[in-house]
Amino acid sequence: MKIAAIRTHLLEHRLDVPFESASMRFDRRAHVLVEVECDDGTVGWGECLGPARPNAAVVAAYAPWLIGQDPLATERLWAVLYNALRDQGQRGLAVTALSGIDIALWDIKGRHLGQPVSVLLGGRWRDSLRAYATGSFRRDGVDRVADNAAEMAERRAEGFHACKIKIGFGLTEDLAVIRAVREAIGPDMRLMIDANHGYTVAEAIRLGRAAAEFDIDWFEEPVVPEQLSAYAEVRAGQPIPVAGGETWHGRWGHWQALQARAVDILQPDIAGCGGLSEAAKIATLASLQGIRVVPHVWGTGVHIAAALQFMAAMVPDPVRVNPVEPILEFDRTHNPFRQAVLTRPIEPAGGVVAIPDGPGLGIEIDRDALAEFRMPEA
Ligand code: NI
Ligand code: CA
Repeated sequence: MKIAAIRTHLLEHRLDVPFESASMRFDRRAHVLVEVECDDGTVGWGECLGPARPNAAVVAAYAPWLIGQDPLATERLWAVLYNALRDQGQRGLAVTALSGIDIALWDIKGRHLGQPVSVLLGGRWRDSLRAYATGSFRRDGVDRVADNAAEMAERRAEGFHACKIKIGFGLTEDLAVIRAVREAIGPDMRLMIDANHGYTVAEAIRLGRAAAEFDIDWFEEPVVPEQLSAYAEVRAGQPIPVAGGETWHGRWGHWQALQARAVDILQPDIAGCGGLSEAAKIATLASLQGIRVVPHVWGTGVHIAAALQFMAAMVPDPVRVNPVEPILEFDRTHNPFRQAVLTRPIEPAGGVVAIPDGPGLGIEIDRDALAEFRMPEA
């Protein structure tokens, strides 16, 4: 079996109601899928985190090193591709593009061997995961405090045990949002806050100290990802556990963050950190320090499926009778192609997501949806 073709599928949906995090405005949803086809007809699917068109360009740039190669050689191909762009790469799009390719190669490996990726990664510890709801962005034309509280009350009613809200817009309003959401969801539902690196160190420390009374499980991306020592300052200066990692790339980026003691909870993104191959190494590095790993997830059902396969095989740390189970980030913001790209959607029921047990990622792609949501030419 040899790799015969690499294709990317750019998907887009324009939003009627744009929304924003502290660092980014969304007036459309756009994601890119990677399709790797082999000479025997086997096809594997992957996805890249980040801007769709630039990711697709880098995936195309990697193609000469892939065509004609054995798709089962995931570790070898990862090293070859990484090395091909290493001198000007090492992070960013060089690694997010590689992530989508790596996921597709693991999908092929699973389909070829008739096994789910989670089994090939070492075996399943679980067949389902509790999901936490991500949402609560700032939406145009609505009162953010009331809007966020109403949205998270809805997530509670849907059965989610935990939710994550967006902050980083300003301390006073952020605290009003946190207070209103905590009141709306009650005392038992778990609550996390995500600043999307919108604060300074001083602001993050002030926010964390004031928000702690609302029983917050983690404080995500308080400051920009390059400021590793600032992360450590935020950890030391306020009581909420600090999380981050969706913009750190490869084992080296995550190791730097771990060595700097930047986070209590590490959040590698399977579609951004280097794929399934690299996420496994990053989880091993985190285990050297007892750091909890909760993968970041933001994309279509392909990305969700890859995260599920990875998380099915995550070894509890420590192994014990009642282990700390990983929880799945589930984006609840508007994106009609998130599930449409799959023939069988992966949706939470009562806040719990079943992990597919079919070969590879355990999903099939609906090509009509790829056509329906195809991004217009630039
Ligand atoms: Ni719409
Ligand atoms: Ca985040």
